[in-house]
Amino acid sequence: MSFIIEDFGKLNGTEQVKRITLSSDAIECSFITYGACIQSIKVPSKDGLIDIALGFDTLEGYVHQDKYMGATVGRFANRISGAAFTLNGKEYLLAPNEGRNTLHGGLCGFDKKNWAIEDADVNSVTFFYISPDGEESFPGSLSVRVRYTVDGNRLAVSYSAVSDQDTVVNIINHSYLNLSGGGAVGDHFVRIDSDLYLPTDKESIPIAAAPVAGTPMDLRQVSILSERLDSSFDQIKKARGFDHCFILNPSDFSASKITCCSDASGVIMKLFTDAPAVQFYTGNFLEGCPAGKGGAVYSDRSGLCFETGGCPDSPNRPEFPSALLKAGERFIQSTVFEFGLLPDSRK
Ligand code: GLA
Repeated sequence: MSFIIEDFGKLNGTEQVKRITLSSDAIECSFITYGACIQSIKVPSKDGLIDIALGFDTLEGYVHQDKYMGATVGRFANRISGAAFTLNGKEYLLAPNEGRNTLHGGLCGFDKKNWAIEDADVNSVTFFYISPDGEESFPGSLSVRVRYTVDGNRLAVSYSAVSDQDTVVNIINHSYLNLSGGGAVGDHFVRIDSDLYLPTDKESIPIAAAPVAGTPMDLRQVSILSERLDSSFDQIKKARGFDHCFILNPSDFSASKITCCSDASGVIMKLFTDAPAVQFYTGNFLEGCPAGKGGAVYSDRSGLCFETGGCPDSPNRPEFPSALLKAGERFIQSTVFEFGLLPDSRK
């Protein structure tokens, strides 16, 4: 086990950004204070350790991209329709940054903040940020913590947040993963334990929950992505792939909700979470992203995001799991990524 902390550039030439690397006997993960990002996840493959997280070698890479690469996204991840919501009888008008809707916390969300390191040891690092009352027009001063823990073959991501006024919260991690270590993700296999998903309108706003059964959105059995991505199903064509919220079937934390694997590398990943939903996004708009680590070219569908969290637009949708965080109460949510090798890939 080891722990390294180093400089990762200066934001606006002044504010120091740090990188923390935590290693266990199985995996090695790096995180940066800018956006409380996951910068790399190195896991064993049939050809040795490979980095399965897309990202950049330098701070400039992170600052000059708009893909939310590896970032902690908040205060409200995903979309709020009409850039407005009403809470306790008061209407809050947000900044529209995707057409007339608000995406991923607004113009300057958590992904663009340089978080403080509150605590760090050989297993874990805790990033801390205070989002002031009225930031991006959200009510309440919100103290947020993101704790990353590396333990054996597991990376755990835990959020906690407290506000001094009633507010809405949806915090997710926006890592793009490629379990082959590069190339297109069509060869990945995915399983999502979900009977219901949220079809979207042309502005990517959810319509109403619909059964996955009988559609290419049914990922309840491990399925190869290429066939689904090429399907003529309207929801997939419109989004250029998957970019949908799946309501996770309720089960114990100890039962994995999502599985993903690559035959090319032999890497298998299981996700455990207490979040009610996941936005499954197949990197449909990665084109135009600046060159990544080691000069990697990130084209459309070269990374998968499993954004475990709440449902899009829930502040406006009483039928969805509530995003309300009451003053003084604590929001807590965790997701664990567990890595292994497919049986045939073990040497
Ligand atoms: C989420 C959204 C996508 C896209 C990406 C960021 O996954 O659902 O539509 O905005 O973030 O590029």
